[in-house]
Amino acid sequence: MKKLKNTLFSNKPVTIDENSLIMAIESSCDETACAIVRGGREVLANIVASQIKIHEEFGGVIPEIAAREHLEAVNVVVDEAFKQAGVTANDITAFAGTVGPGLVGCLLVGLNATKSLALAYDKPFIGINHLNAHISANFIDTDLEPPFIALLVSGGHTQIIDVKSYSELEIIGETIDDAVGEAYDKVARLIGLPYPGGPKLDKLAQEGNPHAFKLPEAKVDGYNFSFSGLKTAVLRLVKSFDGQELPTADICASFQECVSSTLLKKVKRAAEERGYKQVVLAGGVAANSEIRKKIFDLKDDGYNVFAPIMKYCTDNASMVASAAFFFDKTFDNIDVEVFSRVK
Ligand code: KG4
Ligand code: ZN
Repeated sequence: MKKLKNTLFSNKPVTIDENSLIMAIESSCDETACAIVRGGREVLANIVASQIKIHEEFGGVIPEIAAREHLEAVNVVVDEAFKQAGVTANDITAFAGTVGPGLVGCLLVGLNATKSLALAYDKPFIGINHLNAHISANFIDTDLEPPFIALLVSGGHTQIIDVKSYSELEIIGETIDDAVGEAYDKVARLIGLPYPGGPKLDKLAQEGNPHAFKLPEAKVDGYNFSFSGLKTAVLRLVKSFDGQELPTADICASFQECVSSTLLKKVKRAAEERGYKQVVLAGGVAANSEIRKKIFDLKDDGYNVFAPIMKYCTDNASMVASAAFFFDKTFDNIDVEVFSRVK
Protein backbone atom coordinates (compact mmCIF):
# COMPACT_ATOMS: atom_id res chain seq x y z
CA MET A 1 0.00 0.00 0.00
CA LYS A 2 1.52 3.30 -1.00
CA LYS A 3 0.13 6.48 0.47
CA LEU A 4 1.43 9.44 -1.48
CA LYS A 5 1.18 13.11 -0.79
CA ASN A 6 -0.64 15.03 -3.43
CA THR A 7 1.06 18.29 -4.37
CA LEU A 8 -1.15 20.42 -6.53
CA PHE A 9 -3.54 18.76 -8.92
CA SER A 10 -5.93 17.70 -6.22
CA ASN A 11 -6.23 18.30 -2.49
CA LYS A 12 -7.81 14.92 -1.92
CA PRO A 13 -5.48 12.34 -0.35
CA VAL A 14 -5.00 9.54 -2.88
CA THR A 15 -3.77 6.01 -2.30
CA ILE A 16 -2.22 3.97 -5.10
CA ASP A 17 -2.80 0.26 -4.58
CA GLU A 18 -3.44 -2.95 -6.50
CA ASN A 19 -6.94 -1.79 -7.47
CA SER A 20 -5.86 1.63 -8.72
CA LEU A 21 -6.53 2.53 -12.32
CA ILE A 22 -3.85 4.64 -13.95
CA MET A 23 -4.51 6.27 -17.31
CA ALA A 24 -1.34 7.16 -19.23
CA ILE A 25 -0.54 9.06 -22.41
CA GLU A 26 2.65 8.55 -24.46
CA SER A 27 3.74 10.90 -27.26
CA SER A 28 7.55 11.06 -27.08
CA CYS A 29 8.23 10.19 -30.73
CA ASP A 30 5.95 8.92 -33.50
CA GLU A 31 3.26 6.99 -31.63
CA THR A 32 0.29 8.66 -29.91
CA ALA A 33 -0.83 6.20 -27.27
CA CYS A 34 -3.23 6.00 -24.36
CA ALA A 35 -3.75 3.14 -21.90
CA ILE A 36 -5.54 2.27 -18.68
CA VAL A 37 -3.79 -0.20 -16.38
CA ARG A 38 -4.96 -1.69 -13.07
CA GLY A 39 -2.41 -2.27 -10.33
CA GLY A 40 0.53 -1.71 -12.68
CA ARG A 41 0.15 -5.12 -14.34
CA GLU A 42 -3.34 -5.58 -15.79
CA VAL A 43 -4.02 -3.73 -19.04
CA LEU A 44 -7.68 -2.70 -19.45
CA ALA A 45 -7.09 -0.59 -22.57
CA ASN A 46 -4.10 -0.13 -24.88
CA ILE A 47 -4.58 2.22 -27.84
CA VAL A 48 -1.74 3.18 -30.21
CA ALA A 49 -2.00 5.52 -33.21
CA SER A 50 1.19 5.07 -35.23
CA GLN A 51 2.57 7.75 -37.55
CA ILE A 52 4.91 5.39 -39.42
CA LYS A 53 3.01 5.78 -42.70
CA ILE A 54 3.35 9.58 -42.51
CA HIS A 55 7.10 9.60 -41.83
CA GLU A 56 7.90 6.78 -44.25
CA GLU A 57 8.11 9.11 -47.24
CA PHE A 58 10.74 11.26 -45.48
CA GLY A 59 12.84 8.30 -44.36
CA GLY A 60 12.63 9.33 -40.70
CA VAL A 61 10.61 11.23 -38.10
CA ILE A 62 10.09 14.94 -38.84
CA PRO A 63 9.54 16.47 -35.36
CA GLU A 64 7.16 19.28 -36.41
CA ILE A 65 4.96 16.93 -38.42
CA ALA A 66 5.00 14.41 -35.57
CA ALA A 67 3.87 17.05 -33.04
CA ARG A 68 1.00 18.12 -35.28
CA GLU A 69 -0.08 14.51 -35.75
CA HIS A 70 -0.07 13.98 -31.98
CA LEU A 71 -2.44 16.95 -31.65
CA GLU A 72 -4.81 15.34 -34.16
CA ALA A 73 -4.70 11.95 -32.49
CA VAL A 74 -4.54 12.58 -28.77
CA ASN A 75 -8.25 13.10 -28.05
CA VAL A 76 -9.14 10.15 -30.22
CA VAL A 77 -6.84 7.72 -28.40
CA VAL A 78 -8.08 8.94 -25.00
CA ASP A 79 -11.74 8.39 -26.00
CA GLU A 80 -10.91 4.96 -27.40
CA ALA A 81 -9.11 3.96 -24.21
CA PHE A 82 -12.12 4.85 -22.04
CA LYS A 83 -14.36 2.90 -24.40
CA GLN A 84 -12.10 -0.15 -24.50
CA ALA A 85 -11.71 -0.26 -20.69
CA GLY A 86 -15.40 0.46 -20.04
CA VAL A 87 -14.56 3.08 -17.37
CA THR A 88 -14.97 6.85 -17.06
CA ALA A 89 -12.49 9.55 -16.03
CA ASN A 90 -14.01 9.56 -12.55
CA ASP A 91 -12.89 5.92 -12.09
CA ILE A 92 -9.24 6.82 -12.76
CA THR A 93 -6.99 7.06 -9.68
CA ALA A 94 -4.20 9.09 -11.30
CA PHE A 95 -3.11 10.33 -14.73
CA ALA A 96 0.44 9.72 -16.00
CA GLY A 97 2.28 11.26 -18.95
CA THR A 98 5.75 10.88 -20.50
CA VAL A 99 7.93 13.91 -19.75
CA GLY A 100 11.13 12.77 -21.51
CA PRO A 101 13.50 11.91 -23.02
CA GLY A 102 11.96 12.49 -26.45
CA LEU A 103 11.04 15.14 -29.01
CA VAL A 104 10.06 18.26 -27.07
CA GLY A 105 7.18 19.38 -29.32
CA CYS A 106 5.75 15.86 -29.25
CA LEU A 107 6.13 15.41 -25.50
CA LEU A 108 4.35 18.72 -24.87
CA VAL A 109 1.19 17.51 -26.60
CA GLY A 110 0.82 14.38 -24.49
CA LEU A 111 1.92 16.08 -21.31
CA ASN A 112 -0.58 18.92 -21.64
CA ALA A 113 -3.37 16.50 -22.47
CA THR A 114 -2.56 14.46 -19.37
CA LYS A 115 -2.27 17.53 -17.13
CA SER A 116 -5.61 18.80 -18.44
CA LEU A 117 -7.31 15.52 -17.60
CA ALA A 118 -5.84 15.58 -14.10
CA LEU A 119 -6.97 19.18 -13.55
CA ALA A 120 -10.42 18.66 -15.03
CA TYR A 121 -11.15 15.56 -12.97
CA ASP A 122 -9.33 16.69 -9.81
CA LYS A 123 -6.86 13.79 -9.79
CA PRO A 124 -3.09 13.52 -9.27
CA PHE A 125 -0.63 13.74 -12.14
CA ILE A 126 2.56 11.62 -12.42
CA GLY A 127 5.35 12.56 -14.88
CA ILE A 128 7.12 9.54 -16.38
CA ASN A 129 10.63 8.90 -17.66
CA HIS A 130 10.33 7.12 -21.03
CA LEU A 131 13.21 4.75 -20.22
CA ASN A 132 11.64 3.62 -16.95
CA ALA A 133 8.46 3.07 -18.96
CA HIS A 134 10.24 0.73 -21.39
CA ILE A 135 11.60 -1.34 -18.50
CA SER A 136 8.11 -1.40 -16.93
CA ALA A 137 6.65 -3.12 -20.00
CA ASN A 138 8.06 -6.22 -18.32
CA PHE A 139 5.74 -5.86 -15.31
CA ILE A 140 2.65 -6.26 -17.50
CA ASP A 141 1.01 -9.66 -16.96
CA THR A 142 4.03 -11.00 -15.04
CA ASP A 143 5.19 -11.32 -11.44
CA LEU A 144 8.57 -9.67 -12.08
CA GLU A 145 10.09 -7.81 -9.13
CA PRO A 146 13.57 -6.25 -8.66
CA PRO A 147 16.42 -6.88 -8.37
CA PHE A 148 17.30 -7.54 -12.02
CA ILE A 149 19.63 -6.46 -14.82
CA ALA A 150 17.84 -4.70 -17.69
CA LEU A 151 19.10 -4.41 -21.25
CA LEU A 152 17.35 -1.38 -22.74
CA VAL A 153 17.63 -1.14 -26.52
CA SER A 154 15.60 1.48 -28.39
CA GLY A 155 15.85 3.98 -31.22
CA GLY A 156 17.53 6.55 -28.98
CA HIS A 157 19.13 4.55 -26.15
CA THR A 158 21.23 1.51 -25.38
CA GLN A 159 21.81 0.91 -21.70
CA ILE A 160 22.48 -1.78 -19.14
CA ILE A 161 20.66 -0.88 -15.95
CA ASP A 162 21.02 -2.38 -12.51
CA VAL A 163 17.47 -2.26 -11.14
CA LYS A 164 18.22 -2.75 -7.44
CA SER A 165 14.73 -1.87 -6.26
CA TYR A 166 11.72 0.14 -7.43
CA SER A 167 13.44 3.28 -6.20
CA GLU A 168 17.08 2.56 -7.09
CA LEU A 169 18.07 2.22 -10.73
CA GLU A 170 21.72 2.53 -11.73
CA ILE A 171 22.81 2.88 -15.36
CA ILE A 172 25.99 0.79 -15.43
CA GLY A 173 26.64 0.85 -19.18
CA GLU A 174 25.55 2.70 -22.31
CA THR A 175 26.48 3.37 -25.90
CA ILE A 176 29.19 5.93 -26.51
CA ASP A 177 27.79 6.73 -29.97
CA ASP A 178 24.84 5.21 -31.89
CA ALA A 179 21.94 3.50 -30.15
CA VAL A 180 21.15 -0.02 -31.35
CA GLY A 181 17.85 0.99 -33.00
CA GLU A 182 19.61 3.90 -34.68
CA ALA A 183 22.31 1.54 -36.02
CA TYR A 184 19.61 -0.82 -37.34
CA ASP A 185 17.78 2.04 -39.07
CA LYS A 186 20.99 3.47 -40.58
CA VAL A 187 22.24 0.10 -41.87
CA ALA A 188 18.77 -0.63 -43.23
CA ARG A 189 18.88 2.64 -45.17
CA LEU A 190 22.35 1.77 -46.51
CA ILE A 191 21.01 -1.39 -48.09
CA GLY A 192 17.89 0.32 -49.43
CA LEU A 193 15.20 -0.66 -46.90
CA PRO A 194 12.47 1.91 -46.13
CA TYR A 195 11.98 3.56 -42.70
CA PRO A 196 11.76 2.25 -40.06
CA GLY A 197 14.35 -0.24 -41.21
CA GLY A 198 14.91 -2.15 -37.94
CA PRO A 199 12.02 -4.62 -38.23
CA LYS A 200 12.60 -5.09 -41.99
CA LEU A 201 16.32 -5.76 -41.47
CA ASP A 202 15.42 -8.30 -38.77
CA LYS A 203 13.08 -10.11 -41.17
CA LEU A 204 15.68 -10.29 -43.95
CA ALA A 205 18.36 -11.42 -41.49
CA GLN A 206 16.33 -14.52 -40.73
CA GLU A 207 16.82 -15.66 -44.35
CA GLY A 208 20.59 -15.06 -44.40
CA ASN A 209 23.79 -16.67 -43.13
CA PRO A 210 24.92 -14.96 -39.90
CA HIS A 211 28.52 -16.06 -40.55
CA ALA A 212 28.71 -14.90 -44.19
CA PHE A 213 30.72 -11.78 -43.28
CA LYS A 214 32.95 -11.16 -40.28
CA LEU A 215 32.07 -7.73 -38.93
CA PRO A 216 34.09 -5.98 -36.21
CA GLU A 217 32.96 -6.00 -32.61
CA ALA A 218 33.96 -2.73 -30.91
CA LYS A 219 36.16 -3.09 -27.84
CA VAL A 220 34.68 -0.72 -25.28
CA ASP A 221 35.36 -0.53 -21.54
CA GLY A 222 33.08 -1.96 -18.88
CA TYR A 223 29.45 -2.43 -19.83
CA ASN A 224 29.55 0.28 -22.50
CA PHE A 225 28.90 -0.16 -26.22
CA SER A 226 29.81 1.42 -29.56
CA PHE A 227 28.00 0.76 -32.82
CA SER A 228 29.20 3.47 -35.18
CA GLY A 229 32.29 1.48 -36.29
CA LEU A 230 30.07 -1.47 -37.16
CA LYS A 231 27.85 0.79 -39.24
CA THR A 232 30.93 2.07 -41.13
CA ALA A 233 32.12 -1.51 -41.66
CA VAL A 234 28.76 -2.37 -43.27
CA LEU A 235 29.07 0.73 -45.46
CA ARG A 236 32.52 -0.45 -46.61
CA LEU A 237 31.17 -3.94 -47.25
CA VAL A 238 28.28 -2.55 -49.33
CA LYS A 239 30.69 -0.38 -51.36
CA SER A 240 32.96 -3.38 -52.02
CA PHE A 241 30.19 -4.89 -54.17
CA ASP A 242 30.63 -1.90 -56.48
CA GLY A 243 27.10 -1.82 -57.89
CA GLN A 244 26.73 -5.60 -58.23
CA GLU A 245 23.69 -7.20 -56.62
CA LEU A 246 24.06 -7.17 -52.82
CA PRO A 247 23.75 -10.38 -50.78
CA THR A 248 21.28 -8.42 -48.63
CA ALA A 249 20.05 -11.25 -46.43
CA ASP A 250 23.62 -12.34 -45.59
CA ILE A 251 24.64 -8.76 -44.77
CA CYS A 252 21.59 -8.35 -42.51
CA ALA A 253 22.20 -11.69 -40.80
CA SER A 254 25.91 -10.93 -40.21
CA PHE A 255 25.08 -7.47 -38.82
CA GLN A 256 22.37 -8.91 -36.58
CA GLU A 257 24.74 -11.62 -35.32
CA CYS A 258 27.41 -9.05 -34.45
CA VAL A 259 24.96 -6.74 -32.62
CA SER A 260 23.14 -9.47 -30.71
CA SER A 261 26.27 -11.30 -29.56
CA THR A 262 27.90 -8.02 -28.42
CA LEU A 263 24.81 -7.07 -26.39
CA LEU A 264 24.41 -10.50 -24.85
CA LYS A 265 28.04 -10.86 -23.80
CA LYS A 266 27.85 -7.68 -21.73
CA VAL A 267 24.42 -8.24 -20.24
CA LYS A 268 25.43 -11.75 -19.16
CA ARG A 269 28.61 -10.45 -17.58
CA ALA A 270 26.65 -7.74 -15.74
CA ALA A 271 24.25 -10.32 -14.31
CA GLU A 272 27.13 -12.59 -13.29
CA GLU A 273 29.20 -9.83 -11.70
CA ARG A 274 26.23 -8.31 -9.85
CA GLY A 275 25.06 -11.75 -8.72
CA TYR A 276 21.55 -11.46 -10.18
CA LYS A 277 19.47 -14.33 -11.48
CA GLN A 278 16.95 -12.20 -13.40
CA VAL A 279 17.56 -10.55 -16.77
CA VAL A 280 15.10 -8.25 -18.52
CA LEU A 281 14.98 -7.01 -22.13
CA ALA A 282 13.30 -3.68 -22.94
CA GLY A 283 12.82 -1.02 -25.66
CA GLY A 284 11.68 -1.07 -29.28
CA VAL A 285 14.58 -3.31 -30.34
CA ALA A 286 13.40 -5.89 -27.76
CA ALA A 287 11.13 -6.97 -30.65
CA ASN A 288 14.21 -8.24 -32.49
CA SER A 289 14.08 -11.98 -33.13
CA GLU A 290 17.78 -12.76 -32.61
CA ILE A 291 18.25 -10.58 -29.50
CA ARG A 292 15.14 -12.22 -27.99
CA LYS A 293 16.42 -15.69 -28.87
CA LYS A 294 19.84 -15.07 -27.37
CA ILE A 295 18.49 -13.53 -24.16
CA PHE A 296 15.99 -16.38 -23.69
CA ASP A 297 18.90 -18.83 -24.16
CA LEU A 298 20.14 -17.53 -20.78
CA LYS A 299 17.39 -19.67 -19.25
CA ASP A 300 19.65 -22.67 -19.91
CA ASP A 301 22.18 -21.07 -17.56
CA GLY A 302 19.57 -20.81 -14.80
CA TYR A 303 18.40 -17.21 -15.35
CA ASN A 304 14.82 -15.97 -15.13
CA VAL A 305 14.38 -14.08 -18.40
CA PHE A 306 11.73 -11.48 -19.20
CA ALA A 307 10.93 -9.66 -22.46
CA PRO A 308 7.70 -7.80 -23.21
CA ILE A 309 5.26 -9.25 -25.72
CA MET A 310 5.69 -7.53 -29.11
CA LYS A 311 3.04 -4.82 -28.73
CA TYR A 312 4.63 -3.61 -25.48
CA CYS A 313 8.20 -3.48 -26.92
CA THR A 314 7.77 -0.39 -29.11
CA ASP A 315 6.28 2.83 -27.74
CA ASN A 316 2.92 2.39 -25.99
CA ALA A 317 1.15 3.88 -22.99
CA SER A 318 0.57 0.70 -20.94
CA MET A 319 4.25 0.69 -20.03
CA VAL A 320 3.91 4.35 -18.98
CA ALA A 321 1.03 3.54 -16.63
CA SER A 322 3.02 0.62 -15.25
CA ALA A 323 6.04 2.88 -14.63
CA ALA A 324 3.74 5.28 -12.74
CA PHE A 325 2.72 2.42 -10.48
CA PHE A 326 6.19 0.94 -9.89
CA PHE A 327 8.90 3.55 -10.56
CA ASP A 328 8.00 7.25 -10.98
CA LYS A 329 5.22 7.22 -8.42
CA THR A 330 5.65 10.69 -6.95
CA PHE A 331 2.81 13.07 -7.71
CA ASP A 332 4.07 16.05 -9.69
CA ASN A 333 3.28 19.73 -9.76
CA ILE A 334 1.61 21.49 -12.64
CA ASP A 335 4.92 23.16 -13.57
CA VAL A 336 6.68 19.88 -14.40
CA GLU A 337 8.49 20.31 -17.73
CA VAL A 338 9.44 18.08 -20.63
CA PHE A 339 13.08 17.23 -21.42
CA SER A 340 14.70 15.98 -24.62
CA ARG A 341 17.74 14.16 -23.23
CA VAL A 342 18.56 12.15 -20.11
CA LYS A 343 19.69 14.58 -17.43
O1 KG4 B 1 11.39 2.14 -28.27
P1 KG4 B 1 11.04 2.60 -29.63
O2 KG4 B 1 9.64 2.31 -30.13
O3 KG4 B 1 11.28 4.13 -29.77
C1 KG4 B 1 12.28 4.78 -29.03
O4 KG4 B 1 12.06 5.03 -27.83
O5 KG4 B 1 13.36 4.98 -29.63
O6 KG4 B 1 12.12 1.95 -30.62
C2 KG4 B 1 12.09 2.16 -31.99
C3 KG4 B 1 13.31 1.49 -32.58
C4 KG4 B 1 13.52 1.84 -34.06
O7 KG4 B 1 14.87 2.18 -34.24
C5 KG4 B 1 13.16 0.53 -34.76
O8 KG4 B 1 13.83 0.35 -35.99
C6 KG4 B 1 13.62 -0.48 -33.74
O9 KG4 B 1 13.19 0.06 -32.51
N1 KG4 B 1 13.03 -1.82 -33.92
C7 KG4 B 1 13.75 -2.91 -34.26
C8 KG4 B 1 12.83 -3.98 -34.37
N2 KG4 B 1 11.57 -3.50 -34.09
C9 KG4 B 1 11.73 -2.17 -33.80
N3 KG4 B 1 15.07 -3.07 -34.48
C10 KG4 B 1 15.50 -4.31 -34.80
N4 KG4 B 1 14.67 -5.37 -34.93
C11 KG4 B 1 13.34 -5.26 -34.72
N5 KG4 B 1 12.55 -6.33 -34.86
ZN1 ZN C 1 10.67 4.27 -26.83
